[in-house]
Amino acid sequence: MQIKNICCIGAGYVGGPTMAVIALKCPDIKVTVVDLNIDRIAAWNGPIENLPIYEPGLAQVVNKARGRNLFFSTEVDKAIDSAEMIFMAVNTPTKTEGEGAGMAADLRYVEACTKNIARVAKTDKIVIEKSTLPVRTAEKIKEILNKQGSSGVHFEILSNPEFLAEGTAIQDLFKSDRVLIGGDSSEKGQKAVQTLVNIYIKWIPKEKILTTNVWSSELSKLASNAMLAQRISSINSLSALCEKTRADIEELSKAIGMDHRIGPHFLKTSVGFGGSCFQKDILNLVYLCKFYGLHEVAEYWHQVIKINDYQKKRFAQKIIDHFSGDLNGKKIAILGWAFKVNTNDSRESPAIYVAEKLFKAGAIMEIYDPMVSKESVFSDISFYWEVSKIKDLKSRISVNDSLTTLDLSVDAAAILTEWDEFKNLDFSKTIVFDGRGVVSSSKYSIGKG
Ligand code: NAD
Ligand code: UGA
Repeated sequence: MQIKNICCIGAGYVGGPTMAVIALKCPDIKVTVVDLNIDRIAAWNGPIENLPIYEPGLAQVVNKARGRNLFFSTEVDKAIDSAEMIFMAVNTPTKTEGEGAGMAADLRYVEACTKNIARVAKTDKIVIEKSTLPVRTAEKIKEILNKQGSSGVHFEILSNPEFLAEGTAIQDLFKSDRVLIGGDSSEKGQKAVQTLVNIYIKWIPKEKILTTNVWSSELSKLASNAMLAQRISSINSLSALCEKTRADIEELSKAIGMDHRIGPHFLKTSVGFGGSCFQKDILNLVYLCKFYGLHEVAEYWHQVIKINDYQKKRFAQKIIDHFSGDLNGKKIAILGWAFKVNTNDSRESPAIYVAEKLFKAGAIMEIYDPMVSKESVFSDISFYWEVSKIKDLKSRISVNDSLTTLDLSVDAAAILTEWDEFKNLDFSKTIVFDGRGVVSSSKYSIGKG
């Protein structure tokens, strides 16, 4: 089957970049990315230097394809109607209420999309799970589509999870380690798989396109994130032991990673992993294990999250302890707010947690991140901090919009995102607590004792 029209529901960190790359590589396919968020779509259609997502290389890709065969729109129904292939790239956060609250994935957005497709579709569609989903979600999607869709319309569901990392999304999409496509074993299922393979094959080598059954594909995504996060928690747990024994965590990490069976990646100690996915995906995995009665397996993976919480807490406590438990009147510079370098995304950023602990211990804080705006910092504070109303918030927290106005004559500086521009700052007037190992001479780096 020759695809002429693709629709992607969800214009976020995944939908935007993945569709921009598909449009770039397949100029003969019209790609329409739709979203209910009017401001987000307006930003995708706005000035190229102000796209809603900061990602190196993204603006260049969008600039080439936008208006040619890449379109951003709020007209969801229209795009569904004219597409032969529909990607669902909507958010799947952790549930906050009901059964599985605090653990299971909240599938309400996926469900809403599915119902929308069922309501609108008048011709056969290949529906693709791009969002990260619990294993066997495709079954529920199929049930809704078959029950609520027009009679005579055939829906084929594929799983095609996304493995890009923020900050390197474009290079990850150009040169993916693998593209995973899960489909039904029936003739129609395999035909749909082949149709998607034919799109990726335009730029991904054949041997890197892996086809599996739907359940393996869905579960591989959760398992991949869990394995990556597990390595970070492993190295972070060892950083605590290094501090007790005067072993150096960076030397340890290098020595471990040189074993080709282990490899060097994801062994960098930190103040803890952040981002919108690792924690929620592992919690989802833990929930699934419990659901299937695999309590030991659930506990094993839960430990990855517990060590991550321990590391964030340990880092903040280290600063508080340095001032003998009292930060009243102490000025602390918080350098970095994004959850990692080269992104403007601060969802679940460790900086939010560390700043909260320091604030509650009495600190006056000066915050700076090159890509996160003042509005986003305050919006994170009101969303994440466990206080409904903080009286002296604005008098004790200032957010700088430039490095030049940042005052480093503070009592301490905490480096929480590995931005290059923090590497050459003059820290001679203050003590540095380095959560990212960027100032390797700092005796207060995590793991440096
Ligand atoms: P996001 O929050 O940035 O974007 C999701 C978008 O979907 C939002 O703009 C929202 O308005 C839109 N949306 C929700 N319901 C909708 C509906 N019914 N109709 C139209 N639009 C709707 O999320 P994201 O970071 O892009 O993540 C999306 C999915 O991809 C998640 O399942 C996530 O786990 C997975 N994932 C994310 C990353 C990443 O780096 N962020 C990487 C791999 C996989
Ligand atoms: C991660 C995975 O790497 C992607 O493959 C996956 O697609 C994505 O989650 C997802 O499903 O959302 P991302 O969270 O964007 O990507 O970024 P990572 O590079 O994985 O970093 C995550 C966190 O771990 C960051 O806070 C980072 O600073 C931290 N980290 C990473 C470490 O602390 N140490 C390391 O060695 C590597």
